[in-house]
Amino acid sequence: MEYIVFGIIAYLIGSIPFALLVGKIGYKIDIREHGSGNLGGTNTFRVLGIKAGLIVTLSDILKGTLAARIPAFFDADVNLLVIGIFAVVGHMYPLFAKFKGGKAVATSGGVILAVSPLVFLIMLATFFLVLYLSKYVSLSSMVTGIVTIGVSIFIQHVGLIIVTSILTAFVIYRHRSNIKRIIDGTEPKIKWM
Ligand code: G3P
Repeated sequence: MEYIVFGIIAYLIGSIPFALLVGKIGYKIDIREHGSGNLGGTNTFRVLGIKAGLIVTLSDILKGTLAARIPAFFDADVNLLVIGIFAVVGHMYPLFAKFKGGKAVATSGGVILAVSPLVFLIMLATFFLVLYLSKYVSLSSMVTGIVTIGVSIFIQHVGLIIVTSILTAFVIYRHRSNIKRIIDGTEPKIKWM
């Protein structure tokens, strides 16, 4: 029962489409009609600039953290990582944006942050290292997911191994078009690093 209640709450929090809200409220722009069309931090950076991109990315991270931490506030007997998965599903398939959301990266990071700030820091370091080397945000996101599974195996945290595997599968699945573009050589690279 607790899984159902906190899972629904997490899904609803994950469903808050910050990229859509910031674009519409702050800039009168529907970000789904610009750039990659993705409701995520990267596309917000691309279309609306650094300030909006940072707000959306941080909000998407923190909604994952909040959703996963809420059961802990109530001493609920649930696995926080499992509840976090519902937030990521909400982010990818948001109730409040016709079920067309983002690519699971920032919100997954937020879920991991909720249980292990150290693993989250390793994720950040991995992400920026791969971004520096490749200039592809999408590739950096996917490699970070895979490295996080490796870190979970290294620290022998069974829950983290299972959940990071699920979240990384989401991330890779949602980056299908990016993978195709990387192979074709048409994936945009960032210019500021
Ligand atoms: O977090 C999403 C990012 O990895 C790719 O986004 O807009 O370039 O498809 P985008």
